[in-house]
Amino acid sequence: MKRKVTPRRSVLYVPASNAKAMGKIASLSCDAVILDLEDAVGPEEKTGARDNLRAFFATRPPLACEIVVRVNAPSSEWGRDDLALAAALTPDGLLLPKVDTPREILEVGDFLDEEGAAETALWAMVETPKAILNIGAIAELGRDPASRLSCLVAGTNDLIKETGVLATPDRRYLQAWLMQIVLAARAGGLDALDGVSNDFRDLEAFARECAEGAAMGFDGKTLIHPAQIGPANAAFSPAPDALAAARAIVAAFALPENRGKGVLSIDGRMVERLHLAQAEKLISRTGDREIPS
Ligand code: COA
Ligand code: MG
Repeated sequence: MKRKVTPRRSVLYVPASNAKAMGKIASLSCDAVILDLEDAVGPEEKTGARDNLRAFFATRPPLACEIVVRVNAPSSEWGRDDLALAAALTPDGLLLPKVDTPREILEVGDFLDEEGAAETALWAMVETPKAILNIGAIAELGRDPASRLSCLVAGTNDLIKETGVLATPDRRYLQAWLMQIVLAARAGGLDALDGVSNDFRDLEAFARECAEGAAMGFDGKTLIHPAQIGPANAAFSPAPDALAAARAIVAAFALPENRGKGVLSIDGRMVERLHLAQAEKLISRTGDREIPS
């Protein structure tokens, strides 16, 4: 399947049990939404949440953002019904929680093949100790387009719960694992999204965490509240000077006289073809829509 080149700076979880919140999606400027059937939905709410999803897709508005559905783990009591529903609704992406091994991703990919959901990509939560230990093999799937794997999502709340590390404002005990996720995503040619910030009222702390995630190399951040969209879009958009430099690199390699060249000089700096790829990736991270203030 074709891999989309769209920015994923701001990716908002919306509980599928909350029809009112789902009704707001068209007015939000996030790059993607994750309609959640899993942790944000209580056991008694699962059936109603599936009904809401059906209703949402029945009147599927033409949205600028990617629509991803997070199912319950296939091994859970809700997993099979969620997968069948998601395959029928054909969202842009299906996010698998509690992934431990590449095999689980391959099995869901096979199921989507059988159901004919050709355009649905797979996203994987990285939120268990086993997923961190297996992260290289999981991300390697990104090298095979048939696997559908497109994006890794850090599940920091579950990682904290599963490992027992202390949750600190500077996330010091999570850093090593978060960097593993970014490194593996790069090795597999995948996007990597940082975990959520639970304190959605403290937007200053949130902006700091976004800046940290961007510096660590994440492509974007998963969000829980609409107030977090603007700061995430700002933090994960390329800075104006970096964007100008990237455009200059692309323009220089596009000149007829430079077409076959591997290395150029731009304003007295050496620029190689690897910088061209980096520049193109950076340019792809500019959203088309306005960044809300
Ligand atoms: N998506 C869309 N709209 C949302 C939203 C979300 N994730 N979170 C809040 N809103 C809406 C609310 O519906 C509310 O709308 P209203 O003004 O028309 O009533 C508005 O934004 C303001 O919400 P607010 O009152 O500040 O928050 P809340 O108390 O209603 O909700 C949470 C707080 C945390 C329960 C809610 O943000 C939420 O459910 N977030 C997602 C949680 C989740 O999916 N977790 C799983 C992954 S970690
Ligand atoms: Mg989780």
